[in-house]
Amino acid sequence: MSRIAYVNGRYVPHGDAAVHVEDRGYQFADGVYEVVAIRNGVMLDEEAHLARLGRSLAELRIGPAVPMRVLRVIIREVARRNRVRNGLVYIQMTRGVAPREHAFPAEAKTSLVVTARRKVVNPVLAEQGVRVITIPDTRWTRCDIKSVSLLPNVLGKQAAKEAGAFEAWQVGRDGMITEGTSSNAWIVTPAGELVTRAPTHEILNGITRTVLLDIVDREGLTYVERPFGVDEAKRAREAFLTSASSFVLPVVRIDDAVIGDGKPGPLSRNLRARYLAVSAEGETVTGAAAPAPAAPAARGQAAA
Ligand code: PDD
Repeated sequence: MSRIAYVNGRYVPHGDAAVHVEDRGYQFADGVYEVVAIRNGVMLDEEAHLARLGRSLAELRIGPAVPMRVLRVIIREVARRNRVRNGLVYIQMTRGVAPREHAFPAEAKTSLVVTARRKVVNPVLAEQGVRVITIPDTRWTRCDIKSVSLLPNVLGKQAAKEAGAFEAWQVGRDGMITEGTSSNAWIVTPAGELVTRAPTHEILNGITRTVLLDIVDREGLTYVERPFGVDEAKRAREAFLTSASSFVLPVVRIDDAVIGDGKPGPLSRNLRARYLAVSAEGETVTGAAAPAPAAPAARGQAAA
């Protein structure tokens, strides 16, 4: 089946999908994006992702390429044309095409690209848990904006891959863990306290993170939003990460420290199951709900 992408008003074969050389996304990383998961035909937390997209655009003073109600139609159409029932939709808006000057162009039309691809999280990773490494956080001070400027994240993920790990947890100058390169970080302390960092400018306020906090509230559990350091994380009873592409994924090793007994902890497993159950309740956008296909066996851990 040939893949189809949406580029600035047209549905085009994926192989021909291209933007202009002077697109400011290409030249300045002057743009924002979202990644929305589709699971069994259900688009997960779509409204929250679109709201965050609107916020990222507003923070950078980029006008939306199309109204959000139109974007919703385009996303569904791209998912449908690519027959994605389990996978990811990628949405990107940039400040558009203009002669290369750093300041905003007087006239530029916001560029919009939407792609979709099939992808399932390898269940073996969730069953066995994943490894993370820690690296210095070298990013800018507005990590709350989901900008396409991702070079530190790219380098961090590559470092994780080379270390045989799934993710890299970034550590600020104060020694506190901010977040993963494409996920949020969580721990459960030896006293049983569920901890994740508050959504300040230092991290992206993950949609999976906010949905999970709602679930935690509804389950009558408690949590604390505060920074935690590498040492505290290594002494944690449990650890896990959250993202649209990984859902809730247990972490069983941080650098050389084994977390808990080296297996996914009970709270991490329970929260993953709860998140998947709640997300299954959404509207089906690409056909009738059906069980997720079996995923291939694990081949190393670098698969974010
Ligand atoms: N990453 N932190 C960072 C730096 C991220 O890039 C992401 C998402 C998250 C988790 O956010 P959410 O739960 O809304 O996916 C946290 C996406 C999946 C990506 O870049 O592919």
